[in-house]
Amino acid sequence: MNPLRAQLSADRTPAPATVVIFGASGDLTKRKLVPALYNLMLERHLSRIAIVGASRSTLSDDAFRQRLEEGVDAYSRRRPIDRSLWDSMAPSIHYQPVDFADPAMFRELKTRLEAIEKEHNLPGNRLFYLSTPPSVFAPIIRNLGQAGLVNPGEDPFARVVIEKPFGTDLASAQSLNHQVHQVLEERQIYRIDHYLGKETVQNLLVFRYANSIFEPMWNNKYVRSVQITGAETLGVEQRGSYFEKAGILRDMVQNHLFQVLCLAAMEPPASFDADAVRDEKTKVLKALRPVTGRDVDDFVLRGQYTKGSVLGRDVAGYREEANVDPESRTETYVALKLGIDNWRWAGVPFYLRSAKRMPKKVTEIAVHFRPAPHRLFGDARMAHLEGNVLAIRIQPDEGITLTLGSKVPGQAIEIAPVSMEFRYASSFGVEAPEAYERLLLDALNGEPTLFTRGDEVEASWRFITPIHEAWAESETAPFPYEAGSWGPPEAEALLTDGMMWRKP
Ligand SMILES: NC(=O)c1ccc[n+]([C@@H]2O[C@H](COP(=O)([O-])OP(=O)(O)OC[C@H]3O[C@@H](n4cnc5c(N)ncnc54)[C@H](OP(=O)(O)O)[C@@H]3O)[C@@H](O)[C@H]2O)c1
Repeated sequence: MNPLRAQLSADRTPAPATVVIFGASGDLTKRKLVPALYNLMLERHLSRIAIVGASRSTLSDDAFRQRLEEGVDAYSRRRPIDRSLWDSMAPSIHYQPVDFADPAMFRELKTRLEAIEKEHNLPGNRLFYLSTPPSVFAPIIRNLGQAGLVNPGEDPFARVVIEKPFGTDLASAQSLNHQVHQVLEERQIYRIDHYLGKETVQNLLVFRYANSIFEPMWNNKYVRSVQITGAETLGVEQRGSYFEKAGILRDMVQNHLFQVLCLAAMEPPASFDADAVRDEKTKVLKALRPVTGRDVDDFVLRGQYTKGSVLGRDVAGYREEANVDPESRTETYVALKLGIDNWRWAGVPFYLRSAKRMPKKVTEIAVHFRPAPHRLFGDARMAHLEGNVLAIRIQPDEGITLTLGSKVPGQAIEIAPVSMEFRYASSFGVEAPEAYERLLLDALNGEPTLFTRGDEVEASWRFITPIHEAWAESETAPFPYEAGSWGPPEAEALLTDGMMWRKP
């Protein structure tokens, strides 16, 4: 189907297919992927599928079904589990042990898939989902190719969803792209960033392009600056050894926050076609003014949490966490001042920040508009107004708030900020689907708009890698900030024009 028609159509039921999950004994499969497939089934978005799990562990079909049932029971958006639906799904769930380094096991997988598809009368459409550590992405794809499992035809189709992270720097992302392209065509590759599956992130596109009032103001003539925040209350939890190597710039900014930045800043695409949208997103990344060498300290600020209190609970500092070096220089807070060198955004700073152990979990975009050109009511009365702010909350409590200046009732002209609110939950009264539901359905439908293209990933790493290189050479350590605070006080100095970081 034409991708535009398919995306806009309410009936998006894809052709029957087999979803093959590599990393099937892992956490993501149990917590997100299978509950998402179950909810799609429950809401009748899927007609017929088989789920085939593959990983090193030895599991019987029954043991695998049991594990997934527990996952659906515990983590599904819609609970309790619908017994009759699960009983009808369970017979088409299977497990095949596969060592990802062993080509013979992929040939066995192929034989098993053919048998399963025959048993369930499925046409051979296959969606392979790589829910594994990134170190095995390339071997899995190579072995899929060698086993003849990913032929480029569309009927039946073979598509591959690749989890994050896609590379850890520019060279590794380029190398992974190269290895993947030796086996797959770009249109078969679905690099997932689950932020793009979130309703409010997609609403950014609708909000900008389905309303005529915002777009005329969406430029440097009216916008003073933009702040994008991705704040978590959690620390590194059980993932200390992973996080030590990653840091928040890799873990959150290169992927999630840059995706949000692209949707907020891109030019209107000519259509909602996947490549038209992704071309415009990539142009934003390519227009980012590079920050390299000595400039890094002027445009990027890193921090690391010390012990403190979050949501009323005392928590340890980052260096005291399990599997973290007591002298670690890994950043758990990062703030960036970005410039987008194009006609629309010249001179408008984009401030991005992401951190762990913040006082609140919140992801939002705040567009700060310029103040009124003439201070009709006098400087003193208008001084405390920061100008109109349009805040788009991506999570939690999804919605949009517009801050306006209003006259305080009374005899004098006194101005105070008031807000106009739109809240998803109260306006629509229905629960939004989970990001993984939307993205799995898109991948099964062959709609890659909300997945990241190879050149897009490389463009984001091209910007990020020099920052890591400068940090590696630097003698300085991240600025400490107390867990439960909004980050190091030094971060305020990154903002110019009298702006301050929001405390959403
Ligand atoms: N968990 C999340 O919320 C989340 C969110 C976003 C992205 N991700 C990404 O999703 C991926 C999976 O995450 P996860 O949390 O599910 O990881 P996990 O719990 O550690 O599971 C990893 C899976 O990969 C398998 N595996 C690892 N090395 C293998 C090898 N050499 N050969 C065969 N199987 C191998 C493991 O199987 P065996 O144990 O049977 O060997 C296991 O099933 C990662 O890339 C992660 O970055 C996860």
